[in-house]
Amino acid sequence: MTGNSSFVVVANRLPVDEVRSPEGTTWRRSPGGLVTALQPVLAQHKGTWVGWTGGITKAGRPAPDPFEVDGMELCPLPLSADEMERYYEGFSNSSLWPLYHDAVEPPVYKRRWWEEYRKVNQRFADATAKVAAQGATVWVQDYQLQLVPAMLREQRPDLRIGFFLHIPFPPVELFMQLPRRAEVLKGLLGADLVGFQRPLGAHNFLQLTRHVLGLRPRGDSVELPDGRTVLAGAFPISIDFVEMERLAQSEEVRQRAAEIREELGRPAAIILGVDRLDYTKGIERRLKIFRELLAEKRLTVPGAVMVQVATPSRERIEQYQALRVKVEREVGRINGEYGRVGEPAVHYLHQSYNRAELAALYLAADVMMVTPLRDGMNLVAKEYVAARADNGGALVLSEFAGAAAELRQAFLCNPHDLDGVKELLMRAVKIEAGDAARRMRAMRRYLRAHDVQAWAESFLTALDRTGRPA
Ligand code: ADP
Ligand code: G6P
Repeated sequence: MTGNSSFVVVANRLPVDEVRSPEGTTWRRSPGGLVTALQPVLAQHKGTWVGWTGGITKAGRPAPDPFEVDGMELCPLPLSADEMERYYEGFSNSSLWPLYHDAVEPPVYKRRWWEEYRKVNQRFADATAKVAAQGATVWVQDYQLQLVPAMLREQRPDLRIGFFLHIPFPPVELFMQLPRRAEVLKGLLGADLVGFQRPLGAHNFLQLTRHVLGLRPRGDSVELPDGRTVLAGAFPISIDFVEMERLAQSEEVRQRAAEIREELGRPAAIILGVDRLDYTKGIERRLKIFRELLAEKRLTVPGAVMVQVATPSRERIEQYQALRVKVEREVGRINGEYGRVGEPAVHYLHQSYNRAELAALYLAADVMMVTPLRDGMNLVAKEYVAARADNGGALVLSEFAGAAAELRQAFLCNPHDLDGVKELLMRAVKIEAGDAARRMRAMRRYLRAHDVQAWAESFLTALDRTGRPA
């Protein structure tokens, strides 16, 4: 049985989360860069999106009916409490997420997590097989669903299947830790095209097909025993540049940005961080850097203030709970030592915001600090640049974010070298308007040409060409 969607995106999350209350169900935009990037692409292609609604559903309950949002057909897939614990919080976010991010926190492996990961991936594959039309293009997303390409191909050899990994793909030595590593690679090899953020990810993947499966990759592809060829390549993801630029230039957002500056006491330097509260993002170190600069009186309150937006994320996982405690303790310490009544040194916001409020924060910030220890891309860095149509502001960006390969005019830093970051932050705070404008203009020119539409087009064009003579 086939469905009637000729373009299907499969991702762990739908672009909206279900919020249940006594008054009924409402929908709220889901967190993270994957949704930010894919939503405009899917709306444009009028496709179907298969994914989880964010909540827990009693085991055995049938999936809710598909529904439409912004021209996209959304196909919800429920997760039970056990599935959420073992597939989502367990294998996806306590094994794969830390391992693929250079093991900045030690990955945890449990055998029963794997079993659930396999089962849930099978359910995503089954649901997708039902909605995809004959010969449809299916685009599977991210580390939660690495087995779906092979499972889908097994049922539906007629489909053209692409896979894109939003997070880094680790070096061979690290990947070799993963129990079930061969199954994961075979799962990915079900795709016609496997896309990564950086060329190194594609290289690591191809090396591993040799090392673990004994295949013989050649150039950017590898041939399988059944004669099929799988292509691997780099497709750095991006944002809807024009949408963010327009939003930030709107009267409402400009006024709000001025209001934020006013509310913060019109400081000379507003230093901003916007991240999911995740241990890969380097939030603790960033706070420590700010504290040391205050201690050394190189920065002083209220002339300089820091605003740290930390979106709640994966709150039931122990490492995330521990991180929250550490971050909030550090914020308390800094404010205790350097704040005054009505004048905190750090404004810490553990909340979600709408796009307009984020745009206003970007516009109000003199320095944007994006200092992850490892990040596949980091869209916040790109959003900041898109928002600065005034060519103002300065970006301090970690070399360990995928975005650093593209935003070369940022103040590129090694987040492990605290003294180095302190120097760069001080340079960014004191930057002359001419220098800031020159850097911003160059980054804006690059991003305007390399936006999310260009990303999707280059991936889908490459996918379309697979299996055809060059
Ligand atoms: P990740 O995908 O790891 O979360 P990215 O920087 O690539 O990191 O993407 C984060 C996305 O989430 C961005 O589009 C950003 O605007 C959005 N975002 C971050 N913090 C918030 C928040 N507090 N409220 C709403 N959206 C947020
Ligand atoms: C990153 C991942 C996405 C994920 C997002 C939010 O961007 O690459 O796959 O959706 O974080 O995380 P969450 O666990 O809340 O979906």
